[in-house]
Amino acid sequence: MFSSVGHSIISLSEVDSTNNYAAILLNETKVTNGTIILAKNQTKGKGQLGSVWVVEPSKNLTFSVILTDLKIQANRQFLISAWAACSLSYFLEEYFAIKNHIKWPNDIIVNGKKIAGVLIENSLKGQEIQHSIIGVGFNINQANFPKGIGATSVFNELGKEQNLDAVFEQLLSYFNRFYLYLAKQDDKSLFDAYYSKLYGYNTKIALKDNDGYYEGTIKQILSDGRLVVDKNGAEKTYSLKELEFLMKSE
Ligand code: BTN
Repeated sequence: MFSSVGHSIISLSEVDSTNNYAAILLNETKVTNGTIILAKNQTKGKGQLGSVWVVEPSKNLTFSVILTDLKIQANRQFLISAWAACSLSYFLEEYFAIKNHIKWPNDIIVNGKKIAGVLIENSLKGQEIQHSIIGVGFNINQANFPKGIGATSVFNELGKEQNLDAVFEQLLSYFNRFYLYLAKQDDKSLFDAYYSKLYGYNTKIALKDNDGYYEGTIKQILSDGRLVVDKNGAEKTYSLKELEFLMKSE
C-alpha cells in the first residue's frame, strides 16, 4: 500500500548521484513506492541530456524519489514530469512567494534563471513503466553560480538563508499533493496545473530550432512529452533535443 512520497528517506552525506544510488537499490532490494534518497553532496550529479549537475555541498536540495507502482504506459510518461514540475513550481510560488515558470519539460525558472531541474530515469516492463527515478536538484542557499549558466537560488531571490530540513519537509507536502493526480492518472488536473505555469503557453516566446530563430507559441504537450508549437501559423512538434528557448528576464 502507498503511504506517502517520502515515507522512507535514506539520507546520505555523500554519494556519486542519488539517481544512481536509487537505481542500484532497485536492483538489489525491494523498494517501497515513494522512497527518497537525499544527499548533502553528490560527486557526480547528473543533469539532463548527459550534462552534469554541480552544486555546492550542503547548500541545496539534491534527492531522488523512487516510484514503483504507477502502472503508467511508456507513451504517457510525461505525467511524471508534469507531477514533478508542478510540485516544485507551486511550492516555490506558495511557500516562498517566488514567481516562477516551468520551462518545458521540467526546469523551474525565475526571471529567466534556473532554480530547479529534474532528471527522470524510467525502467520499462513491456510497454509499462516499472520504476521511475525522479531526481531533483533545487538551489536553496547557494549564493554564487558560475558565470553564464543562468542559475539562481532561493537565497538569491529572497536574500535570506533557509533551513534545508524545514524546506524539504514542506516541499514533500507538494509532491504528495500532486501525487493524488498522478496516482489516479488524472491527466486533466495535472495538465491544467502544468499549463498555467508553462513558459510560452499561448504567448509568444523566442525559440530556436534546426532552421534558426523564430517567435512561436506553445499550444500543447503530448502525453509522451513532445511539444507542439505554433510556428508562423503552422503546428510543429518537437522532442527535447530539437528546440531551444531563448530566455528573457521579466
Ligand atoms: C537538469 O539538468 O536540469 C536536471 C538536474 C537534475 C539534478 C538532480 S540532483 C539529484 C538527482 N541526482 C542526480 O544525479 N541528478 C538529479
